[in-house]
Amino acid sequence: MESKGSEKIISEINTLKKEKNAIILAHYYQTGDIQDIADFVGDSLALSQKAASNNADIILFAGVKFMAETAKILAPDKKVLLPDMNAGCSLSDSCKAIDFKKFINENPGRTVVTYVNTSAEVKALSDIICTSSNAVQIVESLPIEEKIIFAPDRNLGNYVLNKTGRDILVWNGTCHVHEEFSLEAILKLKDQNPEAKIIVHPECELPVRMVADFIGSTSALLQFTKNDKGNSYIVGTEPGIIHQMKKENPGKNYIPAPPRDSTCGCSECSFMKLITLEKIVNCLKNEKPEIFLDKDILLKARKPILRMMEISEKLGL
Ligand code: 13P
Ligand code: SF4
Repeated sequence: MESKGSEKIISEINTLKKEKNAIILAHYYQTGDIQDIADFVGDSLALSQKAASNNADIILFAGVKFMAETAKILAPDKKVLLPDMNAGCSLSDSCKAIDFKKFINENPGRTVVTYVNTSAEVKALSDIICTSSNAVQIVESLPIEEKIIFAPDRNLGNYVLNKTGRDILVWNGTCHVHEEFSLEAILKLKDQNPEAKIIVHPECELPVRMVADFIGSTSALLQFTKNDKGNSYIVGTEPGIIHQMKKENPGKNYIPAPPRDSTCGCSECSFMKLITLEKIVNCLKNEKPEIFLDKDILLKARKPILRMMEISEKLGL
C-alpha cells in the first residue's frame, strides 16, 4: 500500500507529465515505486530504443547519467532531465576519456567496441556501442579478422571474448555492485536452497559466472525467470530487478545474491538509488537538472550508438 505522502507525489507526477507532455523512462535497478510510475521500464538497450522513438517533449530519466546522456544523444531536440546529477556509475568512472584516448592510440588498428555504461566523451572515441543485451552479437557482426578493443567492463569483455573467440583487448574496469558478489555466500545459499537456479549478469566476476545456471542482461534474466519451469532463483545482479520478476511471477522465490561485505545483505547500486519520487516531482516541476552536451561530442557519440541500433534492429534484438 502507498503511504498518503507518496500517493500525493504520484498524483502530482501524473499531472505534471500530462501538462508538460513528459514521459518517465526507468531502469530495472530503480526502486519499485519509481518503476511503477514510469511510462516505460527496461534495460539499457530497450531504454535507448524508447528514447529514440517517442512523442514526448520531455524525457525524465529515472536511472543514471550515462543513460540520460544516451537519451539526449538519441533525442537531441528533446529536453532530457535527470533528477540527481550525482547519479553516476562506478563502471563509467573507471574509464576516463583522456586515459581511453591514450589506450586507443597505444593499440592502433583495433575496432573500438564500447559498452553503453560510459560517458558521452568515451562514446565519441568509439566505433560501435553495445549493451549487455547485444554485446556478443555486436562483436560477432564485425569481420572475423578485425582486432577489437572492448571497454570498460573487464568481466563483460572477458565473457564476450570467451563466447566469440575473437581477438579482444579488454579495458580493466568494473562495476562496484557486480564485482562485489561473494562466491562463498552464493554457494552457501545454493546449499540451503538446492532447487534454486543461480542467474547472474555478465558484469559479475568469472568465479560467480562459472557457477551460474544462466548469464544475461537484466531483461534476459527477467525473461529467464518468466519462461523457466523452476520456482526459485539466486539473483546475481542489482536487486531492483526483483520487483519486475515478482510482478511477472509472484509465486516464485527470488533470493538476492549477497555481496562480500554489506550491512543490508543485498547489493544495491548506490548511484541508481539516488533517484527518489521526491526528486522526480521536483525535477518535473522545475525542468531541471537537465542534460546538456557539447554539440561536437553529441554528434561524434551518436554515430557509434546508431550503428549499434541498426545492427540490433536487423537482428531483431
Ligand atoms: P542492463 O543493460 O543489463 O540493464 O545493465 C545495465 C547496468 O547498468 C548493469 O549494471
Ligand atoms: Fe553502473 Fe554498476 Fe550501477 Fe550498473 S550497477 S549503473 S554498472 S555502478
